[in-house]
Amino acid sequence: MAELVHRPRRLRRREALRALVREARLAREDLVLPLFACPGEGVRREISSMPGVFNLSVDEVVREASRAFDVGVGAVILFGLPETKDETATGAYARDGVVQAAIRAVRRAVPEMVVIADTCLCEYTSHGHCGVVREGELLNDETLELLAQTAVSQAEAGADIVAPSAMMDGQVGAIREALDGAGLEQTAIMSYAVKYASAFYGPFREAAASAPAFGDRRSYQMDAANAREAMREAELDYAEGADFLMVKPATAYLDILRMVRDRFDLPLAAYHVSGEYAMIKAAAARGWIDEERVMLETLTSIRRAGADLIITYYAQDAARLLK
Ligand code: PBG
Repeated sequence: MAELVHRPRRLRRREALRALVREARLAREDLVLPLFACPGEGVRREISSMPGVFNLSVDEVVREASRAFDVGVGAVILFGLPETKDETATGAYARDGVVQAAIRAVRRAVPEMVVIADTCLCEYTSHGHCGVVREGELLNDETLELLAQTAVSQAEAGADIVAPSAMMDGQVGAIREALDGAGLEQTAIMSYAVKYASAFYGPFREAAASAPAFGDRRSYQMDAANAREAMREAELDYAEGADFLMVKPATAYLDILRMVRDRFDLPLAAYHVSGEYAMIKAAAARGWIDEERVMLETLTSIRRAGADLIITYYAQDAARLLK
């Protein structure tokens, strides 16, 4: 038999050796936990398609955020379920809106925690679309104004970062201008720059009661088949002043994450979305897969593809294992 010069197995013999040559590392500090704030007090309503994820009243949001902080998760992203929804998403930019209240409460109770606010209208519109609709059309520029107001109200409530996810053209620029105009130039923008029209958001729409009442989101979210277009989206948001870029969903789009990583030097976020979480949960509940291992392997693949930080409903579970 010929001499084997290279024997990759030499470096796999013991865990400490494997750790020494490990390329991508998952750390608690990379994880962001999404939380859904709803009206009321003492409310903790589990989302049926997302076991372990809840609609939480503001007091419960605070408890959940402190628990997360205690296991080493340094950031939350907040979504809101308003008392009432209307055509113009009033609840999104109300000073005393549910998300604004949740931001203030977390800020006060866990001052060291990074508070990110999802900036979109779909949770607040009666029709469930991410902007202003007229005659069945989603109007881009009219929506920008409302997104900018929403971002300002979130930043005034104390959000460190606003994260526009409506996929309107020019949203990052409009928000940057509005924040600066309000003296909020220290508030950062995490742009959902590359967001696909994805069936993986299904369970989220139950969590946020935000399924569109008619049509779908394909006129604003991206076509799953497109990669070069993703680079153009990222380029625009970079030019408009984004502080972070995001790719969403994560696992079906690891190639896109890698491409954005290679072309742009901004911090890169990946959103491991509701359906990606639900699939692991469902298979694990049937005993078909090992939940912990599949979770860690999945999150590691997202890091390996190039994400600096990962938004995931598994943030606390993963953090506990990584401790
Ligand atoms: C708001 C928004 C959505 C998600 C994050 N922000 C829903 C959507 O676009 O339909 C999805 C997150 C998830 O599925 O976990 N536009």
